[in-house]
Amino acid sequence: MTQTSWFQNKHVVLGVTGGIACYKACELARELGRRGAIVQVVMTEAATAFVSALTFQALTGREVKVSMLDPKAEAGMGHIELARWADLILVAPCTANTMALLAQGQAPDLLSTLWAAAACEKAIAPAMNQQMWKHPETQANLERLEGKVQIIGPDSGIQACGDVGSGRMSEALDIANTLEATLNRGALAGRRVVITAGPTHEPVDPVRYLGNRSSGKMGFALAEVANRLGATVTLITGPVHLETPAGVNRIDVETAGDMHTAVHSALDQVDLFIGAAAVCDMRPASVSKQKLKKSKDDLSQITLTENIDIIHSVATCPDRPGLVIGFAAETESVLEHARQKLIAKSLDAIIANCVAGGEIFGQDVTEATLVFSGSEQKLVPGTKSEVSQEIFATLSPLLAKRI
Ligand code: C5P
Repeated sequence: MTQTSWFQNKHVVLGVTGGIACYKACELARELGRRGAIVQVVMTEAATAFVSALTFQALTGREVKVSMLDPKAEAGMGHIELARWADLILVAPCTANTMALLAQGQAPDLLSTLWAAAACEKAIAPAMNQQMWKHPETQANLERLEGKVQIIGPDSGIQACGDVGSGRMSEALDIANTLEATLNRGALAGRRVVITAGPTHEPVDPVRYLGNRSSGKMGFALAEVANRLGATVTLITGPVHLETPAGVNRIDVETAGDMHTAVHSALDQVDLFIGAAAVCDMRPASVSKQKLKKSKDDLSQITLTENIDIIHSVATCPDRPGLVIGFAAETESVLEHARQKLIAKSLDAIIANCVAGGEIFGQDVTEATLVFSGSEQKLVPGTKSEVSQEIFATLSPLLAKRI
C-alpha cells in the first residue's frame, strides 16, 4: 500500500470538528499515516470536548493545533504557512456548522481560516443528525461545495442519538480509499491545456529585434503545475532561458506570427488555454536584410505595424477551448484595465498583476488577482508555482461544469 499510495509523503491537514464521530477520526489519522501521509490535526474547540488533542498527538506524532490566536503556534507554523504546507485538507467529521462556514467563506476559527486560505485539494466527510443533514440550509451549503471539493458520505443507518437516516460519517477506511482513488487522477486528469509563455522577438534586421522583459517563468510554472495535476500540456514559448518542465510538450517560437501559427495548430479539443506570453503588440513593418547602420536616415526607416492579438483570435475561433484565460500586466488602474481586456478579448477570466517598477517580470514570486466578469479573486501572494496551484484550484471546477 505505502509505495503506490497517493498519500506517500503528502502533507495532510486533518480537520476534526465537534461531533460524536470524532472517535472515527482517530482511526482515520492512523490510516492516513499508515499510507505514508504526514498528518497535521487541526481541531475545533468543540471537537476537543469529544476526543483530547493528546490522543491525536500520540497518533500523528505532531502537536495538534486548535487556536488561531495562539502566539506560540503562529511563531512556529502560522495559519498561512499551514495553508500552503497542505497538499490536502480533509475535514472529518464535518459538522453542519463547519460545513456552513466552509461553504460560505466564513472564517471564525483556525480550521475555517486555513480552508479559506488554502488552494490545495479539499475534502469533507459530513457527520450530523439526519434531520440536520436534511435541513434545506445544510443542503444548500452542500450544493455550494459540490464540484469544488470532494464530499465523502454521509452513510445512512442508526445514529448515535438513536435516529435512523443519513448523516453517519463514512468509515475511516472508506474515506481513505475514496480519496486515494480520486486524488490519484488529479484535478486536471484527461484535460488538454495549451499555455503560451515568454516574450516574442520581432526582428528589425539580422541581429536586432524588438522584445520585452518577460522571463517566461509564470507560463512555465503554470505548465509544470498543470502537468502535475494530470493535464496533457502544450507549452508554446518565445525565447527564454528555462528548462522544459518534465512531461510537458514544448514548442519554441520567436515571433508573434510564429506563436499565432503554433497556437492554432495546437487547438484540437483543448479544455483550457492560458495566454501567459508577453506578446509584442507591434513589429517592424519590414525586416532589413542587412544590419542597419547608425546613420539617422536608417533609424527613421523603422516603421511599426500591429501584430495579431493571439488570445483574441483563440477566444473567437470555431475551435475555442472550454476556457480562455489571459494575463494583464498593468502599471496603473490594474483591475480596471484588466476588466476592459477581459471584455475586449472575449476571455473567461484574466489574471491581473501590477508590473509598475518591474517587480514581477523575471521574479520567482508574484501577486495577482483572478478577474472574472462580475467577480474577482485576490490570489495569495507566493511563488509563481504556488499562485499557479491556486489558479488551477479555481479553474478546474469550472472546467468540470462546462464539459
Ligand atoms: O493587450 P495586452 O498585451 O495587455 O494583453 C495581454 C494578454 O493578451 C495576455 O494574455 C497575452 O498573452 C495576450 N496577447 C496575445 N497576443 C497579442 C497581445 C497580447 O495573445 N498580440
